[in-house]
Amino acid sequence: MTAGATSTHCIVEPDTGQDRERVDGRGARHVAIIMDGNGRWARKRLLPRVVGHQRGVEAVRRIVRAAQGMGLDALTLYAFSTENWRRPEEEIAALMGLLKRFILSDLDEFCANNVRLQIIGDYRAFPPDVVALIEQALARTSANTGVTLVIALNYGSQDEIARAAAKAAAKGPVTPESISAELDTAGLPPLDLLIRTSGEIRLSNFLLWQAAYAEMWFTDVHWPDFTPAHLEEALAHFGKRERRFGGA
Ligand code: FPP
Repeated sequence: MTAGATSTHCIVEPDTGQDRERVDGRGARHVAIIMDGNGRWARKRLLPRVVGHQRGVEAVRRIVRAAQGMGLDALTLYAFSTENWRRPEEEIAALMGLLKRFILSDLDEFCANNVRLQIIGDYRAFPPDVVALIEQALARTSANTGVTLVIALNYGSQDEIARAAAKAAAKGPVTPESISAELDTAGLPPLDLLIRTSGEIRLSNFLLWQAAYAEMWFTDVHWPDFTPAHLEEALAHFGKRERRFGGA
């Protein structure tokens, strides 16, 4: 069922979670991805970087669709970091345009599939038309109960932790719990698995706090080539890990 263009919320059947089968023995609820390598993908093919980003959006679409059948409750994607403002103006404009087109073209599908959209990071620094679209999408999907698609926009983990610590301090004692409760990710399931594509082994200011006990999976595959089969492979790897959370 698709939501009408004028409706405030998507109208979908409540999702009891029973129809979202867990992939056997894997059990990851929250997966995050550093979608790296769009530029290298394009360079290898002598194409403009923006084509890499366009193909990156197609990969996003494939992975969001697949996540719904893999038992995930939340999928967090690093789309624009606080450091990405240092990129050339044309590239930033192209990324904003792609984000807008993605929301415009996929919002009805999110509604039909009970996907809830959430943003982490200060997206209000984006151009007003992008902010308006994001807020429309947040409002329309806010009552959905299926997979939460979290897009990190103008996001930096150190900035998020500093903001959360200040809010926690204003309310009372600063503890790990009080900081966690003020993070942009408050309310989401704990992060289980962090994936980074394109060969770099670093976190690049992404979910530093949330990754405390997350498993990590790195692949040389450039983001535009990332498929649901790669996500399955990462989840299979996760399923074999013994997680002790600091215990013996
Ligand atoms: C990293 O590749 C990718 C980004 C900084 C942007 C990610 C954006 C998208 C996948 C498209 C927009 C997303 C949505 C959700 C609509 P890079 O450019 O750093 O690649 P490189 O390291 O190979 O140069």
